[in-house]
Amino acid sequence: MPQPQSRRRCIFSSYRRRLLLAILMPALFLAACADNSASMLTGRGPAAAQINTLWWIMFVVGAIVYLLVMGYLLLALFRRRGDRRGDDDEEEASEPDEGTGIVIWGGAVIPAIILAGIYGATVFTLSALKEPEIPEDLTIEVTGNQFWWDVNYPELGIRTANEIHIPVGQPVAVKLTSEDVIHSFWVPELHGKLDLIPGQVTEFWLEASEPDTYLGECAEFCGVQHAKMQFLVIAQDDEEFLQWVEQQQQPAPEPTDPMIQQGQQIFLGSSCVYCHTVEGTNATGELGPDLTHLASRSTLAAGTIPNNRGNLGGWIVAPQSIKPGSLMPPTQLTGPDLQALLDYLETLE
Ligand code: CUA
Repeated sequence: MPQPQSRRRCIFSSYRRRLLLAILMPALFLAACADNSASMLTGRGPAAAQINTLWWIMFVVGAIVYLLVMGYLLLALFRRRGDRRGDDDEEEASEPDEGTGIVIWGGAVIPAIILAGIYGATVFTLSALKEPEIPEDLTIEVTGNQFWWDVNYPELGIRTANEIHIPVGQPVAVKLTSEDVIHSFWVPELHGKLDLIPGQVTEFWLEASEPDTYLGECAEFCGVQHAKMQFLVIAQDDEEFLQWVEQQQQPAPEPTDPMIQQGQQIFLGSSCVYCHTVEGTNATGELGPDLTHLASRSTLAAGTIPNNRGNLGGWIVAPQSIKPGSLMPPTQLTGPDLQALLDYLETLE
C-alpha cells in the first residue's frame, strides 16, 4: 500500500532538516538582540556593568555546555546509525564502566562544579550591587500608578512625572512604592529591575556613566496599559542638572497675554484641577501627573506619544483612543477653547 502523502511532505520530516533547525533556532532568537536600544547588554552604569559581566559569564558557560552536550549527542546518534548499518563489526560493545563514568562526571560532578561557580558569581554580584562605591547625595522617590510614574525629589522640592533627571557619574538613591498594584522599575542600561509594591518602600540606586537619555519601563504586568508605562532617565552634567533643578523649582509663570490668560481660566474652570497640580495656581489635584512643568517634558502619557501641540490636544480630547484604560477622562471643549488651553499649557516650561 502507498504511504499517505502527508507523512512525506512535512518540511521537518528528514533527520538532517531537524538537526539544522535545532542548530539554527538559537541564532534566530539571538537575532532579536541586534537592536541594542535600551539593551541590558550595553551596561552604561557601574551596576549594569556588574550585571553585564555576570550575564556574559553565564552565557559563555551555558554556550560551552550546550555545544559539548550537542556534540556528544551527535556523536551518539551517528555511532548508533553506523551500528545499525553493521559498519562496526570490528568495534566492540562499550565497556559497561565507560557509560557509568560519563554519567557520574558529566551528569553530576561537572554540573555541580559549574552550578557552584555560577552561584558564587551571582552572590558576589548581588553584594556588589547592594551599595554604590560612594554614598548617594540625592534621593528620588518614584511612585507607580496605573499607568504612569510620579517622581519626587524631597530634598529639592521638585515633583514631576515620567522623566527622571540625574547628575551624571553620581549615584542617586531611588525609593520606590506604588499607589495601586505591583509595578517594576527597570532601566536596562543602568540597573536591574526592582518592584514597586503598594504599602512598602523598596530601595536601590541609579548611576549613569555618561550623559544621555536612557529608556526605562515597567517590567511587571500591571494592567491593560502595562506596555505603555515607560519613562526616561536623563543623565546630565552638573551644570545642566542644576539648571534643570532651578527651572523645576519655579512655580508656573503668571500669564500676561490675554489669550493665555483665557487658557488658564479654562484650565482652572475645568475638571483638570481635581487630578492635576500646577504650582502657583489653585490646581492642586494629586491623582494625575504634576503639570507645573509639563512643557519641559519630552513625552506624554508615560512615554506613549511625543509631547507636541497636536498630541497634547488629542490627549486632552480623546485620551482613551490613545491609551485605552488609562484613568485620564476625555474633556469636552470647543475648538477655540482647546486652542487657548493648549496656548496656556505650552507656557508651563
Ligand atoms: Cu506598571 Cu506594568
